[in-house]
Amino acid sequence: MAKIILITHQKGGVGKSTLTYNLAQNLSEHSKVAILDIDAQGSLSQLSKIVNSFQITTDENILTIDNNLDFIFIDTPPYLSSKLKGLIKIADLILVPTKAGILDLLAIDNTISLIKDEMKENNTMIILNMVKANTTITEDILKSLDSHKIKIAQTMISDLVAFTRSPLLKGVTADRNAQRQIDSLTKEVLTTLI
Ligand SMILES: Nc1ncnc2c1ncn2[C@@H]1O[C@H](COP(=O)(O)OP(=O)(O)OP(=O)(O)O)[C@@H](O)[C@H]1O
Ligand SMILES: [Mg+2]
Repeated sequence: MAKIILITHQKGGVGKSTLTYNLAQNLSEHSKVAILDIDAQGSLSQLSKIVNSFQITTDENILTIDNNLDFIFIDTPPYLSSKLKGLIKIADLILVPTKAGILDLLAIDNTISLIKDEMKENNTMIILNMVKANTTITEDILKSLDSHKIKIAQTMISDLVAFTRSPLLKGVTADRNAQRQIDSLTKEVLTTLI
């Protein structure tokens, strides 16, 4: 059975699609991977023709049909989709990327309470994304995240051009720092899944 990894945050532009793409790319080196894109604007599915190391589909049947996949990532839209509750229920792991800004953290509450409603908080990991160079995540931000009692990934993803370009360059291999971060995040995802 494929492990289902749901990437969700109701705020737009926090890096859901970017992290989904890069994690899928990394895992596809050793595993069979697919991305289910339920974002109506279809951002990742637009890449389906140029990506060949894994499948990108908008067909939700991929969740139920017998397939040979090891991992299915589900990329979600930046609003409360009617499907989200059901997807949270079936997910083996829920990743919630967020920027490390106060407004982004305030916006995370709705997503977290939906996850808690389904009692999936122990299967959830928050990822700090687009962390700016030469800044430290303030105690306040970590403290505010701590109050949710949800695991925070030790790997923080920096704000790097390599990530912006990654979908066209089949990942971030050209940038050693970005690749190291994605490798480290991939490891955390795998250990959290076990
Ligand atoms: N770590 C990063 N460093 C630099 N740019 C990034 C990083 N992560 C994401 N971006 C850029 O930020 C923008 C938003 O990212 P992305 O589209 O992945 O967010 P999203 O959460 O999927 O947005 P939406 O909710 O609208 O689908 C994109 O231009 C992307 O290239
Ligand atoms: Mg997106």
